[in-house]
Formats: sequence, structure tokens, C-alpha cells
Amino acid sequence: MGSTAEIRGYDLARSLRWEGGELFLLDQTRLPGELVEDRQNNIEMVWNSIKRLAVRGAPAIGIAGAYGLVLGLRDYRGLEPKAFLAKAERLAAYLDSSRPTAVNLGWALRRMLGRALAEASSTSAAIYDALVAEAEAIHAEDRAICHGIGESGLGLIKEGCGVLTHCNAGALATSELGTATAPIYLAQAAGRSFRVYADETRPLLQGARLTAWELQRAGIDVTLICDDMAASIMSQGLVDLCIVGCDRVAANGDFANKIGTMGVAILARHFSIPFYVASPSSTIDLDTARGGDIVIEERGTEEVTSFGGRRTAPEGVKVRNPAFDVTPHELVTGFITERGILTPPFSESLARVFG
Ligand code: MRU
Repeated sequence: MGSTAEIRGYDLARSLRWEGGELFLLDQTRLPGELVEDRQNNIEMVWNSIKRLAVRGAPAIGIAGAYGLVLGLRDYRGLEPKAFLAKAERLAAYLDSSRPTAVNLGWALRRMLGRALAEASSTSAAIYDALVAEAEAIHAEDRAICHGIGESGLGLIKEGCGVLTHCNAGALATSELGTATAPIYLAQAAGRSFRVYADETRPLLQGARLTAWELQRAGIDVTLICDDMAASIMSQGLVDLCIVGCDRVAANGDFANKIGTMGVAILARHFSIPFYVASPSSTIDLDTARGGDIVIEERGTEEVTSFGGRRTAPEGVKVRNPAFDVTPHELVTGFITERGILTPPFSESLARVFG
């Protein structure tokens, strides 16, 4: 089987697959030029794939982390169960250290450890088999969640409308339909015609390299814009709603997503454009009270000082490179979840539906 999935007639990119006990990740750093899958030989390789964004997007790194833990434990099935469980805890902490902001990674690893503990009275081989089943369940559930988000958000995509999205919260960031893109794919399948504007998303160009690529090959009317063009496009009345993904939603509705998202939300408020956040339950973190408590990943300076492999900034210049920002809940119109669209006050609606 290749790296694409046939879904309702569209060729969606497959970010990862688990087959015959092996994990294959589509190397997203090589898109859109090359469609290459790498078999993950060990847990270090998975850690590195997450760190360098070969696999990226909150749900996808959660799933990759779960399978990564399985790979890491494969050679330790001969240990006695107590030592096996201790090893699982150490390896989960190691994988969790690869990226801090998306809650899905820690969530999936905690879920895996919970399953291992529940099987603690079995042999290590049986605990291992249970972990494989748990990782497969996380993977399958993500598929269903994306479809649920698509169904919840489908009514927002009206005939002839313009939708703006930021970064990639698409098929590549999940196991199938994506989150922000799920209503888009379903609206396309329903025969609606509409336009999508994809922000380029500096510095790593997830919008240009990934969203524009996956929407275009699915036959969706997508227009790529630089991040700094969003205000102008909105001012021309071309955008009827924004839908973005998220990496962590705090209990009060503040949420972290790719750097630049907050700017889009501020612009949307200025132009009175509804601003929606597609949020799988795996990204909702009610243990984090507010956005200020979310740890923001700071990445290497070379991502900012160069473009397309060529240096574009003077040597020695001071650089900041936060990979995410936190949008305050006041700017959010609604969270599109697999259990419906949540509206303000979010501290109440999030607790009621996901508490
Ligand atoms: O740094 P990335 O590419 O992993 O950032 C991805 C995003 O910010 C996505 O919008 C988010 O993870 C949601 S993916 C469904």
C-alpha cells in the first residue's frame, strides 16, 4: 500500500501507517517535491522524526508517539513485568521530550502507560500486545474524530464562501481528513463550491508546502497567500470565515496553535469574520487553566535567518523563533469538535462536553 488513502474519491496524503508491526512516516520535510515514506527502525528515529517535523501536527505526533513507544519496547518483552513497565515509563518520558506544546503527544503516551499498568499482572509479552492494540485504537479513534469534526463543521461551509486557514491542520497533521480541513473535504464531497485561502505560514511554510499541496491534489479551489496578505484579502470581502487547528486548548478556551494564528484571529475580529478552531478531544487539556500556562516550543534560529536553504539575515542578528502562539478565547467564535460546535462561555461549554 502506498502513502495515500482513497477517501470519498479524493486522494488524501497518509501521514503515517502501521503495517506488519512496522511504522512508516511520510517525510513531510520533503513535501511538496517528494512523496517519501521512511520506515522507523527504532524509537530514536521516531523521536527525531517528531523533532524535525517529518511527522507533525498535534494528532499525528500523538499517534506516532504511541507507535514509537511500541517500537521502543519491542526488544524488552523478555524482561519481567515490573522492569518492563519501568522501561515503558522511561521511554514515554523520552518521546514526550521531543516537542512540548501539542498536548496530544503527552496525552497519547499517558494513555499508553495507563493501558500498560492495567495489564500489569500479565506477562511482558501480553502487556506489549496490549500496547500495540492501544496504539492502533488511538490511531483509529483519530480517524473517527476527524470525520466527526467534519460533520460538525460542514454547515459552516456555505455555497460560494471563502475560508481562510493557517498552517496545516489537514490530512497530513492527522490520520485522515484533518481537523480544520475536515469540513472542507466533506463540503467538497457534498458538491459545494467554495474557495480556500491558505496562509503560507513562515518560517516553515506548512501552509505553502503542505496545505496548498494536499487541498490542491484533492481538487479543492485553494489560493496560497503570504501571511502578511491576509488582512488585504479579508478587507476585500473574500473571506467569510476562518478555520484553524490547535495544539492545546486550555480550560478557559485560550488555545495554542502555529505561530501567526493569533494575528489571524485579531484580523478576523477587526473585519467581523467568524473565527473557528477545529479541536479534537485529544487536544483539549482541561488540566491547563489558561493559555499563559502552555509551554511554547522555541525552535532553532536558522529557521528564521534562512529561506529555502539560503541565508537571508545578517550573521549575528538576534532572533526569536516561537513555533506557536496563544490566541485568547475572546477572539474565538466557536470550537468545532467531534461532539458539535462549542460556543462561549468556553469555560462552561468545554467543561460540560469534555469534563
Ligand atoms: O509545528 P507543526 O507543524 O506541528 O504545527 C502544527 C499546527 O500548529 C497545527 O495547526 C495543529 O497541530 C493542529 S493539526 C490538526
